[in-house]
Amino acid sequence: MEKNFDVIVIGAGPAGYVASIRCAQLGMKTACIDNWLDEKGQPSPGGTCLNVGCIPSKALLESSALYVQASQELEGHGITTGPVSFDVSTMMRRKRQLVKGLTSGVRSLLTGNNITLFTGNGRLLADKQVEVNRDGNITVIHAKNIILAPGSTNRALPAIPIDDDIVVDSSGALSFAEVPNRLAVIGAGVIGLEMGSVWSRLGSKVSIYEYAPSFLPFADKQISKTALATYKKQGLEFNFGAEVTKASITSGKITLHYSNGDSRHQAEFEKIIVAVGRIPNTSDLFSDAAGIRLDNQGRIEVNEQCSTNVEGIYAIGDAVRGPMLAHKGSEEGMMVAELIAGQYARVDYGTIPFVVYTDPELAWCGKTEQALIEQDIPYSTGQFSFAANGRAMASGSATGMIRIHAHRDTDRVLGVHMIGPHVSELIGQAVIAMEFGSSSEDLAMTMFAHPSLSEVLHEAALDVTKRAIHKVSRK
Ligand code: FAD
Ligand code: NAI
Repeated sequence: MEKNFDVIVIGAGPAGYVASIRCAQLGMKTACIDNWLDEKGQPSPGGTCLNVGCIPSKALLESSALYVQASQELEGHGITTGPVSFDVSTMMRRKRQLVKGLTSGVRSLLTGNNITLFTGNGRLLADKQVEVNRDGNITVIHAKNIILAPGSTNRALPAIPIDDDIVVDSSGALSFAEVPNRLAVIGAGVIGLEMGSVWSRLGSKVSIYEYAPSFLPFADKQISKTALATYKKQGLEFNFGAEVTKASITSGKITLHYSNGDSRHQAEFEKIIVAVGRIPNTSDLFSDAAGIRLDNQGRIEVNEQCSTNVEGIYAIGDAVRGPMLAHKGSEEGMMVAELIAGQYARVDYGTIPFVVYTDPELAWCGKTEQALIEQDIPYSTGQFSFAANGRAMASGSATGMIRIHAHRDTDRVLGVHMIGPHVSELIGQAVIAMEFGSSSEDLAMTMFAHPSLSEVLHEAALDVTKRAIHKVSRK
């Protein structure tokens, strides 16, 4: 087998497999090493995202949303169904088939691009040598350039160890065999909200315990406030400022102990999901001789162009600074491949879209209102509600709004924040606008189809200068 390459990529998640494909497209002899195996022990490239992250979570979000629609919303359209029920094992089978299809697709893309796929653990040694270890069988390969894309894993909470039965992490939460009656979620972050929503829609009584005193502090305040009120109406229960101290299991039930300031509490559940953030996979990634530096949060230290402190060695995706998002890792993968090929390339970290796939969805890019205030940047805000949009009303999903913050002097769009139906799709329009350096005036002068949800973006842009049509605005 070939042992010398132009590029070796460690990790075949959305960062690593995309980097590998782009390197191959640019004519480089590329190897990609990944250690993810499916339940049959077969290679399953695609990383966290395809195997236990973005895709399986969205599969269950979709199934559970359809159940809510069929059981609660169709009647209002005059559609009679009779009693609606669901089968968790069919939902899980559908999810597994989706994962299988997509991971097989990635495998075909890698082989179709003549990328050599090694299955096993990759470990960087000195002088750009990489050791591949598959069940103790060691192969050493070498390349002129190395891309580290090892991703991340769920952070453990020492007070509540995962037992993969009653206490689970996000992967376990994607695989419950049945709906737990009482479910606790530790962490009101993105995973907590998405997985809490799935099981709540299917009938669990869900209580979320969040250490921080506030909700989604990184989202625009108005958006997180509306989101919290809506989630509560849907039946999710929130406990902020909650420090979980212990969990004790007796006869299949678990008692969760937590404190709120000086008061101590306990509550009983059938399952607990621990979703308190993720940590980079760097523990056995390189030898000391490789000379790679980590930052103070255990991530691989890189500059804006994803170069590590060692020349010719790059790191991308969840294992480096920045948000842990699949699309951010993929963009870094493409950038690094192009830089290695001697091309100009960059990632615009200021326009990364963020999405929370609950109902309603949340989506944003650019600066929040609180960041603008903190940074003393003068701004004007335009805001428009889905409740005044014909298409949203016709679809029966008219909760939420779009907010646009534009620079008060230059009118350049600085941030766009959305809560509402299909905003995971609408946010792309805002990202394009910001990427093109758009002003709110540019968006206001653009024609949007009627009736469409995107008219809410148009009206929000008009509202920056208080001339939204379907709203009484005051200057
Ligand atoms: P990963 O996807 O983690 O891939 C890294 C790969 O490298 C893995 O296959 C790993 O096993 C392998 N590896 C690690 N070390 C080695 C080694 N030494 N040798 C060989 N192989 C190695 N992000 C979004 O943008 N949108 C979403 O909707 C979304 N939903 C999510 C839902 C859940 C439940 C979770 C857990 C995450 C979600 N994410 C989402 C985050 C997203 O999955 C990650 O940001 C993304 O997968 C990171 O990509 P990556 O390539 O850096 O790492
Ligand atoms: P997160 O960082 O989004 O949220 C973790 C939450 O747990 C935070 O609110 C934090 O304050 C809280 N927390 C931390 N320690 C705690 C403790 N001891 N007790 C109670 N609460 C505690 O992390 P999460 O939800 O685990 O997701 C991990 C990553 O995966 C995120 O960074 C996100 O980017 C990515 N992801 C993205 C999705 C998307 O784009 N739609 C979906 C799911 C995950």
